[in-house]
Amino acid sequence: MKYLLIIINLLLLVGCSKNVETIPLVIYDYEDLYMQDFRTLIVDNISGDYQFASYDSKNSQVIQNEIIESVLNNTYPLLVVNPVDRLGVYPIIEKAKSVNTPIIFINREPLKEDLDLWEHVYYVGAKAEQSASIQAEIVTELFGGNPSNLNQYDLNQDNKIQAIILKGEPGHQDAEIRTEAVVEYIEDLGFTLDVLTIQEAYFSQTIAEEEMQNVIDDFGTQFEVIISNNDAMAIGAINTLKENDYFVDTNENGIINRETEPWIPVIGIDGLPPAINLIEQGYLYGTVINDSAAMAQAINELTYSIINNLPLTDLTYPLIDETYIWIDYKKYTPE
Ligand code: GAL
Ligand code: CA
Repeated sequence: MKYLLIIINLLLLVGCSKNVETIPLVIYDYEDLYMQDFRTLIVDNISGDYQFASYDSKNSQVIQNEIIESVLNNTYPLLVVNPVDRLGVYPIIEKAKSVNTPIIFINREPLKEDLDLWEHVYYVGAKAEQSASIQAEIVTELFGGNPSNLNQYDLNQDNKIQAIILKGEPGHQDAEIRTEAVVEYIEDLGFTLDVLTIQEAYFSQTIAEEEMQNVIDDFGTQFEVIISNNDAMAIGAINTLKENDYFVDTNENGIINRETEPWIPVIGIDGLPPAINLIEQGYLYGTVINDSAAMAQAINELTYSIINNLPLTDLTYPLIDETYIWIDYKKYTPE
């Protein structure tokens, strides 16, 4: 009897697992803080009878190609790919097309001409310009909102904003566009931005820690704001600024009081949980939410619809040009 039950259980298990599809989720680099969060949200937001199997490309396109080559030989119904080199997806799409496996690209945006190679290729992401425009809003409001009369945060009172920009990985749409567009948006709002330097820190907290030390050595007290392409680099910058007494928690209550204690504005993008904590503690001035929860939901709905052959016309986040799902950024400041 006991054995019979075990056998029945085993049969049930086999029966069930047959219906659960596995979808490979190929991430560009597990070390990336934002992608760590995003990956968990994707895997946890499952909207049907399937599961994700995650892979780490270790920031190498060669490794990623090997992973994709092997999963494409295994006839999965769909692939979700966070490309290492967004400009290098051509062979991935050609191969997927040849075995008829649709692909959803995420976070690192391939060129339109590549996405147009095959109809079953999609991209879920956000428009970098929007994050720059929200960041520009945060910066200009901080300096009082009136371009002809900046407030007390214009430390040298020259009515210009002396800024340091921390740039992400060169070539990444978010690094290139956020860096360029934040300057343009601030100037469009009538403010004069004096960019002292743009430091490339590859979206990385540890690289930003080092780069910030160089900035401090070169510019001392000349900068009035640090505009970072992402939160990880903003957190790195804050660590170094703290070590150099730009932030001092004089009464040691764990919180920077902006009225009475030294601080300097640092603004990020992403809305990582540690960044939100730093905002609450007064260290990070603000951030822009790069809405990975909404993206995870969009990816899951699209996945569910594709593997069940459902029409892609009534998704919560609409499919644009039969290819793109765009998720809005959101402002996050203490107020
Ligand atoms: C950006 C994000 C960065 C980094 C990058 C990786 O959208 O803001 O923090 O995660 O994606 O591709
Ligand atoms: Ca100034």
